[in-house]
Amino acid sequence: MIYSAGIIGLGKYLPERIVTNRELEELVDTSDEWITTRTGISERRIAAAEQATSDLAIAAAQEALLDARLGADELDLIIVATISPDMIFPATACLVQAALGATKAAAFDLSAGCSGYVYALITAAQFIAAGLYQNVLVVGADTLSRLTDWQDRRTCVLFGDGAAAAVVGRVPDGYGILGSLLGADGTGGNHLYLPAGGSRRPASPETLENREHYIKMSGPEVFKFAVKVMEEATLQVIEQAGLTLADIDLFVPHQANIRIIDSSLHRMGVPHERVFLNVDKYGNTSAASVGIALAEAVAAGRVHDGDNILLVGFGAGLTWGSAVLKWYDRRQLNG
Ligand code: UT7
Repeated sequence: MIYSAGIIGLGKYLPERIVTNRELEELVDTSDEWITTRTGISERRIAAAEQATSDLAIAAAQEALLDARLGADELDLIIVATISPDMIFPATACLVQAALGATKAAAFDLSAGCSGYVYALITAAQFIAAGLYQNVLVVGADTLSRLTDWQDRRTCVLFGDGAAAAVVGRVPDGYGILGSLLGADGTGGNHLYLPAGGSRRPASPETLENREHYIKMSGPEVFKFAVKVMEEATLQVIEQAGLTLADIDLFVPHQANIRIIDSSLHRMGVPHERVFLNVDKYGNTSAASVGIALAEAVAAGRVHDGDNILLVGFGAGLTWGSAVLKWYDRRQLNG
């Protein structure tokens, strides 16, 4: 039996501390003008010293459960998409499971870089569609400030911390995920990676000395990949859903760089007013990015029952993912 799977609750969490471009001018040789014009980012949120990724994830998850009017004990599975887990193991999803008291839920992490939220959403939907589970909690959470080289101006201006959560469950036929697509090209893995701290390059005085515990990125390579893949993944998933570009009411892309969004979505003829943007406020929040944008779009009243919503992400791996959802507004239908 195939059930329709969709989002029945949303949540997000952003750390309180705002770091402006001006503050970064004090750290590295950069300028507010460069960052704003080359990326569209004005400020980002940075987690407090005592906050780890699971703390961000738990706060977002609690909001999503409230929104879904669901108890943690009703969850069957928790998937946390992250590339900055609290520890290498146990999975951050297990830490979230314990904190929520989701005693019935299985839990695992998923590593797909900034595609993490879309990857996890599509994975969760398979369990619902197959009838195996009723309620799956998806969280995209990253604290990249801990993996960022604050001496490297090419990367440190780009990222911010945050978390987003969605409860995925059964929705009436015709609603929910109408099309989905996942992709990967591991040959591009060396364009965006963290060299040390795993089994290939365990931590040593040498890896510390060489700053190998920080994110390395070939910006222009990732930029070219992103523009290409965002356009392809968007067009393919819309076709798969039996729709056209004109049928999409709101585009919610990964918020990495305004120029990437301009070069792909706007080049395809998608007007600005049909694209949700918050990259200026949060920078690139990695696995949380698409989810935070979706939660904010819904909270801002930009999403209505029956709207077709396009989610698209890309990131480390290299990976990409896209999904088309027919939005199911439980609040409206419940009265
Ligand atoms: O979720 C996936 C994560 N990654 C991404 O989405 C990143 C995708 N790539 C990008 O967004 C862009 O490539 C960047 C924003 C990272 C860089 O922009 P760019 O227009 O591709 O610049 P560039 O790397 O080609 O560098 C141009 C110049 C260089 O100076 P020279 O060599 O021309 O003298 C850089 O050193 O800009 C310099 N530069 C900076 N200058 C001031 C690089 N970063 C900075 C900075 N402030 N923060």
